[in-house]
Order: sequence, then structure tokens, then C-alpha cells
Amino acid sequence: MKILLSGFGVVGKAVIQLIEEQRSKLYSEHGLSPSFVGVIDSKGAAIDPRGLDTSLLLETKEKQGSVGAMPAHGIRDAKELDIIAESEAQLLVEATPTTVRTPGPSLERLKAAFRTGKHVICVNKAPLAVAFPVLQELSRHNRCEFRYSGTVGGGTPILSLAEEVGRGSEIVAVRAILNGTTNFILTKMDREGWDFDTALKEAQRLGYAEADPSADVDGIDTATKVVILANGVLGRPCTISDVKIEGIRGVTKARIEAARKAGQAVKLIARIASDDLSVAPREVAADAPINVGGSLNCLSLELKTGGEVSLIGRGAGGPETATAILRDLIDIWHSVESHRT
Ligand SMILES: NC(=O)c1ccc[n+]([C@@H]2O[C@H](COP(=O)([O-])OP(=O)(O)OC[C@H]3O[C@@H](n4cnc5c(N)ncnc54)[C@H](OP(=O)(O)O)[C@@H]3O)[C@@H](O)[C@H]2O)c1
Repeated sequence: MKILLSGFGVVGKAVIQLIEEQRSKLYSEHGLSPSFVGVIDSKGAAIDPRGLDTSLLLETKEKQGSVGAMPAHGIRDAKELDIIAESEAQLLVEATPTTVRTPGPSLERLKAAFRTGKHVICVNKAPLAVAFPVLQELSRHNRCEFRYSGTVGGGTPILSLAEEVGRGSEIVAVRAILNGTTNFILTKMDREGWDFDTALKEAQRLGYAEADPSADVDGIDTATKVVILANGVLGRPCTISDVKIEGIRGVTKARIEAARKAGQAVKLIARIASDDLSVAPREVAADAPINVGGSLNCLSLELKTGGEVSLIGRGAGGPETATAILRDLIDIWHSVESHRT
């Protein structure tokens, strides 16, 4: 399987490392032999239709700052849409940064891939948040596979579990904690008695929150994941403008304390139900499975028959997200193979 990788940062590098580690197992267990025929970063690209030397690729990126400096195969000032359209790759992995306010470039990359018949694995939430229905239609129209497991829950298979559970029973409602940064902040406020600003500073010191934390604390990141779950698992076409969003900046120590006294905790809850598509701080029972601490994520599915099913795990991290990409790659490979026979 020939792969073109767009974005060579934490996740991009982790996926190449993971595939190299698993190479012999991928072949012996799945008959899958991935090769990277192109890698693009913000300053250039490296291309080799016969497959790039991944050790040299990683070394060049580390020493020279861009894959565009790779001997014999590097291109500076690469025109990425042309590279995607003209590449011999069968599949594009999109792993560039998320910006919901400016999703254009990554959206164009995904469209260019589908229009030229390439399957897509996307870990960038932004294009999915603003144009999921369009992308799904484009992938179907061009008979391409479209996977995005790493966008929700990192390596924790939140989308797969929801799909699996939804196969046998009707999912009536989804409640979830999908952002580790805000969960860390709320947990600190609850357990240490800190106010929001102190907890945010600690999250920034530890590298959980970015210098500009607005995408996390204002609920935007969680809302993008609501859109992906609603479209991808519940078959409910929507975009981020359909989600009611309230972040956690207004959560006070007094609210947290009142919740604790009532045997509850305040969590930033993503909710999907027939009458609700929202992100907001909500009180949950202290002994409910969804009351997970620290930077954990949790998905809780309310079923028409069968009660509640929950999954808890880490929501981010380069190696974890690379695992999700690899799962998607194996799925796509088997799907392509089954259509061929
Ligand atoms: N890290 C996680 O734990 C995690 C978990 C789940 C999902 N994700 C998602 O995965 C994506 C990548 O995350 P990351 O942590 O790997 O980010 P990152 O470390 O900042 O790397 C981003 C990569 O994208 C490249 N890039 C930026 N603009 C580009 C452009 N216009 N064309 C081509 N390449 C471009 C950067 O190039 P340079 O190297 O030249 O700067 C860099 O290689 C994001 O959408 C993120 O939300 C990340």
C-alpha cells in the first residue's frame, strides 16, 4: 500500500516509527506492506515513487528541519495540492494541525485526495468539524475509504466501540468527556480546591494546555468531536455550527463545591441525543463511570436495550494516535482487498 503523509510532526513521525516497528507483523498477519511514497511538512516535501527510506527521512527532519532537504528526493516550496493529485499513493494520511477557524488548506487536501481516487485517514479534526457531510459524500462518490479513528479519543477506540455497540442495539444517547485538558483542570479544581486560573496555569506548565487554551477551555475541541461522533457513528449529518457550545471558563469554585456536597462532580460533557447536540459543564454523579479524573477521556453510551456501556482511556499522545492510524490502515487494506476478490 503506497502512502502519502501530510504533516510530519508528533503524530506523523510516530506513525512512521510504529509502521517500521510492526512491519514484519503487518505482512505476516495481514499481507500488508506499507511504503511511504511522499511526506509533506510546512516547508517542503520528499517524494520517491519506490518508497522513501524512513530512517533517512526521520534523520533529515531532525537535522535539517524539513523533509524538503532530503538528498535526491527533497523538494522545497512544494505545491502540496499538486503533489497529492499527481502522487502514485493509494492513500493519504492527513496529520497537519487543527484550526477550526481556518480549515481550508486541510479540507482542500482531503478533497484533492478523494477526487484523485485516494483513500484517506484523517487525524485532523478541523475539516471534519466544518464539512463532514461533504467529505463523506465525496469519499462515497469516488469509492474511497474514509477513516478518522484518531480524531476522537487518540488511541482509545471510541469510534470503533460506538460503531460496534450500535450494530446490535440502538444508541439512544451519548455522554462523553472528550477533552483531556479541560478534564485535568476540572479535576484539579475538584480535588485540590483550586480556582480555574490556577488549574489552567498548572495545565499549561505541564504541557496539557497550549499558550492559547481557547480551543480546549471554550469547548471547541470537544464540539469538533461531537460532530465526528454524530456524523460518523450515529449517521446524523451536522457541522460544528449545529452544536450548542459552552466552555468551562465560567465554572466557579462555588459550583464545584456545591456539586461535591451533593455527591456530584462538574465535567465538560459532550451530549448527543435526538433533541440535543451540545457541549457544556454538567453535574454528574460522583460514582458514575463517566466521572473519570485527570486527563482521561470517557465515552458512555445509553442503549435502548442493554443499559449503559462505557469506555475509558487516554485521549491523546503521538504514539496513541499513531496506533489509531494503523488500525484504520489495516481496516482499509482489508476492505480494499475484499473488494478486489
Ligand atoms: N498529538 C496528539 O496527541 C494528537 C492526538 C489526536 C489528534 N491529533 C491531531 O493530529 C494532527 C497533527 O498533530 P501533531 O501533534 O502531530 O502536530 P505537530 O507536531 O504540530 O505537527 C504538525 C505537522 O504538520 C506540518 N504542517 C503544518 N502546516 C502544514 C501544511 N500547510 N502543509 C503540510 N504540512 C504542514 C508541520 O510542519 P513542520 O514540521 O514544518 O512545522 C508538522 O510537521 C493535528 O490535527 C492534531 O489535532 C494530535
